[in-house]
Amino acid sequence: MAVARVDPQRLNGTLESLGNIGSTPEGMQRIAFSPADVDGRQFVIDLMQQAGLAVRVDTAGNVIARRAGRDGERPAIAMGSHVDTVPSGGRYDGAVGVLGAIEVVRSLNDLDVVTRHPVEVLVFTNEEGTRYHRWLFGSRAMAGLLEPADLEAVDSEGVSMAERLKAIGGDMVRVSEAGRQKGELCAYLELHIEQGPVLHRSGIPVGVVTGITGRIVFDVRVIGAANHAGTTPMDARKDALLAASRLIQAVNDIATSEGMCRVGTVGMMTVAPNAVNVVPGEVGLGAEFRDIDVKRLEDAERRLNEVSQQIAAATGAEILVKREELGQSATTSGSLQDMVVAAAQRLGLDSRPIPSGAGHDAQAMAAITDIAMVFVPSVDGLSHSPREYTTPEACADGANVLLNTLLMIDESLD
Ligand code: GLV
Ligand code: MN
Ligand code: MN
Repeated sequence: MAVARVDPQRLNGTLESLGNIGSTPEGMQRIAFSPADVDGRQFVIDLMQQAGLAVRVDTAGNVIARRAGRDGERPAIAMGSHVDTVPSGGRYDGAVGVLGAIEVVRSLNDLDVVTRHPVEVLVFTNEEGTRYHRWLFGSRAMAGLLEPADLEAVDSEGVSMAERLKAIGGDMVRVSEAGRQKGELCAYLELHIEQGPVLHRSGIPVGVVTGITGRIVFDVRVIGAANHAGTTPMDARKDALLAASRLIQAVNDIATSEGMCRVGTVGMMTVAPNAVNVVPGEVGLGAEFRDIDVKRLEDAERRLNEVSQQIAAATGAEILVKREELGQSATTSGSLQDMVVAAAQRLGLDSRPIPSGAGHDAQAMAAITDIAMVFVPSVDGLSHSPREYTTPEACADGANVLLNTLLMIDESLD
């Protein structure tokens, strides 16, 4: 089979255009369901239609664009990712996977290739979970993995996800209809930036993902007693922020000195009443642990509950730890990994196996089909940051690997 190649200028042009939607001096603000997210989705839908794809939006708000295959009713080969970003995020997380997939389709058009299998490009709703802490929403809906909490989610502004979903063409009442059966797709491929330093440091242009991390997320409420900062004696306080600070340290200890899981983070905090002369009355924390081994996540959760009770006893504050989500880890298909390696080789690109420390829509899709992921280097390993950067050459390398992997799958799968 000849080596097929995408148009690098065209790909990087679309990356630049999408990167201008929701861009601010503080980074990308294309938060799921925001006006910028809606504009980003429309930009992508327009590209899909220009490429001749049949586009529909499912009840979970996922965009599904399909190119017909040659041989009757074969299952589709899907590619995709997301266009929402974290607050003050970067231009490449998610965008490279979506626009890389669209570029693959445009290249198939240019090359006059009609694949045996239908090809689908998928844009998943609310991958990041920023607003509702219900991450991988669209891909979990497609994989039949939604939970009651997804259907009932309400954001800090009091707006339900059902309402925001309706505005992008979804329907929470019928969201289960977004679920797809095993066998509808024969593979799901996701191109993504690595979001870590391994490829950048090693100088290897292509990462072949071996597995995707699991993640457990908590909402923590620390309830103390707001009181006057000048008159309340130190031994008569229930300082919620002081208790929270100990808990933040404990989350770090669980992942570091106690070595119970790979990483642990408190990335979010609200303080009430948040005034310099008031002993803090209540603190909310968003915390998470990640590890490929779900059992280690459950052990870390037990430890977090234990430490919380110790801190509560020592500070007089009440601490409520609520598990919001447990995202299962996923392994990628060995045979698809081999095809990614072979596709890279065909293009003269060196590759290496790499585990994913970030979460991806692919890990939900693993419940209904074989998955593979292609990583390209993140300069200086930066991501979820306005300084996130992947070179135009690396984006094109990734899309070329995606294209050639797709062609190999199309030839070899029955
Ligand atoms: C998704 O971007 C994650 O937090 O890993
Ligand atoms: Mn992300
Ligand atoms: Mn992503």
